[in-house]
Amino acid sequence: MFDSILPAPPDSILGLTDSWKRDPNPLKVNLGVGVYKDDSGNTPILAAVKAAEAALLLAATTKSYMPISGAPEYGCCVQDLIFGGAHEIISSARARTAHTPGGTAALRVGADFLKKASPNATVWVSAPTWANHKGVFGAAGIPTADYPYYDAATRGLDFTRMQETLEQIPAGDIVLLHACCHNPSGVDLDAGQWQSVAAIAARRGWLPFLDFAYQGYGDGLEQDRNGVLALAAVCPEFIVASSFSKNFGLYQDRVGALTLVAGSAAAANSAFSNVEIAIRVNYSNPPAHGGLIVTRVLTDSALRGQWLAELTAMREHIAATRVQFVAALASHGVPGDFSFIARQKGMFSFSGLSDAQVKFLREARSIYIVGGGRINVAGITSRNLEYLCTSIREALASH
Ligand code: LMR
Repeated sequence: MFDSILPAPPDSILGLTDSWKRDPNPLKVNLGVGVYKDDSGNTPILAAVKAAEAALLLAATTKSYMPISGAPEYGCCVQDLIFGGAHEIISSARARTAHTPGGTAALRVGADFLKKASPNATVWVSAPTWANHKGVFGAAGIPTADYPYYDAATRGLDFTRMQETLEQIPAGDIVLLHACCHNPSGVDLDAGQWQSVAAIAARRGWLPFLDFAYQGYGDGLEQDRNGVLALAAVCPEFIVASSFSKNFGLYQDRVGALTLVAGSAAAANSAFSNVEIAIRVNYSNPPAHGGLIVTRVLTDSALRGQWLAELTAMREHIAATRVQFVAALASHGVPGDFSFIARQKGMFSFSGLSDAQVKFLREARSIYIVGGGRINVAGITSRNLEYLCTSIREALASH
């Protein structure tokens, strides 16, 4: 059986890190996977997380199973983050939240649930989208189609064509939207555009599925809710996949959440029982540790304040790095206008580098960038900035 199975290609994002680790070049730079790094190139554990972990370790009394959907307090914390505590969805109990192993499992559990709720649905994803989206929905047996999103000519949003396609999508289909910090382009909808998209969703009856992996990395924890709140105002039903990999730095603890919003508390409970089945057959119940940390941080006012300050510092560091990168490209004589990099939101910059240039940078300069030209801006440090700019200048000149 196994002799005849062909090898699978390496993962287009995580596979890059494996290659980078094996690369002996001392100048190597990893701008691939979306992981926050400080100016020394380290991904530190947040101080608020460390303190929560220490307290949890002391207080822990059991390692017994979690409920299928995780601890109820965790669900409350997640909903508070997504909607803001005073939102009607919370007071009406129209949302149910499951603690999932990362945002990826939230997407997969959501996909498995939707295969049951709307068996003939197609899920529409932005062109381009996160490299794993199509794989996750495909694994659940849901076909994917693209809606226009990024306009390479303007390096901005192709909102006219996006709306035209969203207007054609039938009721029963699913539209995956990046709530903020679009991955890979860094190009987001503004508040007015979110309202237009929400109005189309409400009129056409397709289901919005929000991937909310970067809350707090765009303009701020609350500002990054624009999309969620616009949809909540007019769409009775939608789904949100949250990740706490980036905003809590809990990458390896795999902590995320799936939040299902329905028209009534009864409908939410009924639909959610099917989400619980999807969880039970996948991984039974979630790993506790990451969820306990998030709950502890969010429910302790000192830790919450400390976390917010750390999140703000990470966001501001990336914004400052964007500005430095644009200035350094210019001062190293790299031809072209790269000012768009400073306008993009979140961790990534869609650099405009071609696949041939990305290949040259990887093979000849040990600079690892995701195919399509996505750069993790947090991977740029004062130490590698000059090497990066001169290498990009060479790539543009020779390819
Ligand atoms: C990324 O896009 O780099 C991150 O979301 C990490 C991942 O799992 O791909």
